[in-house]
Amino acid sequence: MKSMSDRPIGMFDSGFGGLTVARAMIDLLPSEDLVYLGDTARYPYGSRPLEEVRDLAVQIAEHLVDRYDIKLLIIACNTATAAALDELADLLPIPVVGVIDPGVRAMLQASRSGRLAVIGTFGTIMSGAYQDAVAAMLPTDGSSPPTLETCACPGLVEFVERGSTSGPEIELLVRRLLTPIVEAEVDCLLLGCTHYPFLARVIGEVVGRRVVLVSSADETAFAVADLLASSGLSAERTGRPGRQEFVSSGDIRAFTEVGSRLLGPELIDAELWQP
Ligand code: DGL
Repeated sequence: MKSMSDRPIGMFDSGFGGLTVARAMIDLLPSEDLVYLGDTARYPYGSRPLEEVRDLAVQIAEHLVDRYDIKLLIIACNTATAAALDELADLLPIPVVGVIDPGVRAMLQASRSGRLAVIGTFGTIMSGAYQDAVAAMLPTDGSSPPTLETCACPGLVEFVERGSTSGPEIELLVRRLLTPIVEAEVDCLLLGCTHYPFLARVIGEVVGRRVVLVSSADETAFAVADLLASSGLSAERTGRPGRQEFVSSGDIRAFTEVGSRLLGPELIDAELWQP
């Protein structure tokens, strides 16, 4: 039987978005084994009612615990974090990390003016999870509180899921969707959907160089590193390189082909999961 620290870390997203978090995890914690599940057969999550996303998240989390005996779960999806973080933290016998608090922490650190914005799926933005997370981290030193502009961006995830991350169609849509953000003259824009870092070049061109783009991926990996160290669950002492396993509920060939382009050489093949 494997010791607790030798067990893999599980993570999931509706599709490829969580690979941005997987990249940060592999780079920061190269000794950790990872199991990544992309629910590509049932994406997008962002247009579904939150209760439905919660049910999907619970089903996936239970599968990762039962089948892979994971030691920690990362919800590498903002929509699923907004819908199910509290429920999964109560339900599972292992630590659960979402991407919303780490993203907000990174944004508050990066902003100089306190004029902030977050973009995400319809589900994430309407849940109010970002507004709540910013309110919970408000400064206690009497300085003026930050302002938060929010904007749902339907349609962007679909481009990434098709493996498309640049081009005139994407630019047109980004320009149209981000008009309120450009007009709000913010200094920091949090990419509050894990798919969006794949579109960072286009988003950066639209909002302009003065706006710092913040992704939750690195900060989430740092949060996981801290949690593993403080709970004695880190695999680092083994010294061997971590293994990565990939699982998809959709077409395995398409998942491997697009996923390896987005993540890099670690994604060589994937296992089919039929929920
Ligand atoms: N990548 C996900 C997120 O961070 C979900 C995108 C979707 O499936 O709509 O919200």
